[in-house]
Amino acid sequence: MRRKSLRAIREQYDLSGYLVELEQLPRPLVPSQYFGQERPFELEIGSGKGLFLSQAAAATPEHWFLGVEISLRYAMYTALRLLKAQVANARVVHGDAQRLVADYLPDAVVWQLHIYFPDPWWKKRHHKRRLMTPAFAQQLQRVLAPGGELHFWTDVAEYFQAARDMIEQSTRLEPLPVELDESGETFRTHFERRTRLEGRTVYRARFRRS
Ligand SMILES: C[S@@+](CC[C@H](N)C(=O)[O-])C[C@H]1O[C@@H](n2cnc3c(N)ncnc32)[C@H](O)[C@@H]1O
Repeated sequence: MRRKSLRAIREQYDLSGYLVELEQLPRPLVPSQYFGQERPFELEIGSGKGLFLSQAAAATPEHWFLGVEISLRYAMYTALRLLKAQVANARVVHGDAQRLVADYLPDAVVWQLHIYFPDPWWKKRHHKRRLMTPAFAQQLQRVLAPGGELHFWTDVAEYFQAARDMIEQSTRLEPLPVELDESGETFRTHFERRTRLEGRTVYRARFRRS
């Protein structure tokens, strides 16, 4: 998508059906009530420019999709992508995923939880700012439905190892194998595309709540 200014997007498009501010969400956020019907619910944390959300929502119209993105610019890009794809089963929330999960989501409502390439916060003294803390992993476990899955991908080997060890130590989520064909040119997210086209490794983990 060619870069447009946020003002140009606002002037040209009505994103109100796709973009919602965190504070406007009902509390608790019960997906079947919010979307109007009982269906499997998928949450993407840090949806960036919205490639995954728009493609997955178009490919799986029988599920509800919600992205949460802290950057207004990216949340607007995602909403525009959803509008252009004309999907009726996805929205993006502008706000902090930690608040959405901890303060809005009831227990056991998420069927698939996607976290792709969370900000790495490279410097050791900044690691505490990373999304994947023991407290947040426990929140993710709480909101996952029994049988529901968490998908965690990153290009940072050290973050991957630390997050995987921490999830195994701090939660009862069960690690599962990830089987993915990397031979093709299909990519789930912008960061996956960039990482793979540069010939770097994508580290992938998958966990299930029993
Ligand atoms: C490195 S980008 C990856 C984007 C996308 N998932 C991808 O794979 O292309 C990380 C994204 O997470 C967003 N983010 C960081 N902290 C967040 C938070 N607490 N809540 C929601 N989004 C967050 C950033 O604004 C950014 O768009």
